Amino acid sequence: MKMRRLIGALILGIALSAGLAAVSGPATAQEDASKGIEQYRKMMAEDPFANPGLLYVDSGEALWKEKRGTNNVSLEACDMGKGPGVLEGAMAEMPRYFADADKVMDVESRILWCMEKLQGLDTGPVKKKAFSKSGEGGSEMEFLASYVSSMSNGMPLKPQLSHPKEKEAYALGEALFFLRAGPFDFSCESCHGTPGSRIRLQDLPDLSKPGVDAQKTIATWPAYRVSTESVKTMQHRMSDCYRQMRMPKVGFGSDAVTALITYLMKQAEGGEVQVPALKR
Ligand code: HEC
Repeated sequence: MKMRRLIGALILGIALSAGLAAVSGPATAQEDASKGIEQYRKMMAEDPFANPGLLYVDSGEALWKEKRGTNNVSLEACDMGKGPGVLEGAMAEMPRYFADADKVMDVESRILWCMEKLQGLDTGPVKKKAFSKSGEGGSEMEFLASYVSSMSNGMPLKPQLSHPKEKEAYALGEALFFLRAGPFDFSCESCHGTPGSRIRLQDLPDLSKPGVDAQKTIATWPAYRVSTESVKTMQHRMSDCYRQMRMPKVGFGSDAVTALITYLMKQAEGGEVQVPALKR
């Protein structure tokens, strides 16, 4: 473990000199900024209606109940793992194995599946536009994922690892987390394997072991990103970190991303769902 950290620190040092990221700086300035962000979050949290992410939840609920697709039905009969139409607590137990698809699915890929199978909707465009661009005011997937996930608010994450395919996804996710690749030879652990590390002013949660860091960060997606003034989903978070690693683009809802999320959920076991959270 120590060795890994040392290597991680070295990699970050190299990245620093390559101009990728300023890893350190005057500690006081960093602490001030962190405190400032924390205070801003607190102020927003004190007035729950000040969270613009709630608009996504509302749009998601409307979209969930809208009759669409060639079958002209809503998503209300979609089984997110707790039975058709049951959303309470569903996200807290995902990714999980779905017998009808014979696959482990996360919230977003399951929503896509229901759109396709239940509604008969052409999901090509939904997938293509899953991550909204700045100024678009959100995507269908962002709305729906926010709505579905918010129905687990206040509940603890309960990772599902009893089915062999769930175990397989966890093992793959763990391997992917520690796999070093790409032009910088980064793994997720290079940036998320040391407590208390930062890039520029951003706190980097330690996701390499179970604990508060993982609980606080994983149970809070989708999140409203103040920096981009929009809600981002867990799929987007994975794809954006792979981009930071200069890795090839990952497909939306790919098995690899589902596996990573399965691993992260296990690290975050017991964390209380609070979405859409407010993040930097
Ligand atoms: C080059 C460093 C780097 C690597 C490698 C990296 N990340 Fe990140 N990650 C970041 C940064 C920086 C942030 C904060 C982003 C922000 O606030 O804009 C972040 C944020 C996150 C978050 C959200 C944390 C929160 O506050 O909610 C998760 C989850 C995450 N990363 C997972 C991963 C996974 C999984 C991998 C491997 C596929 C990975 N990261 C690889 C730099 C990295």
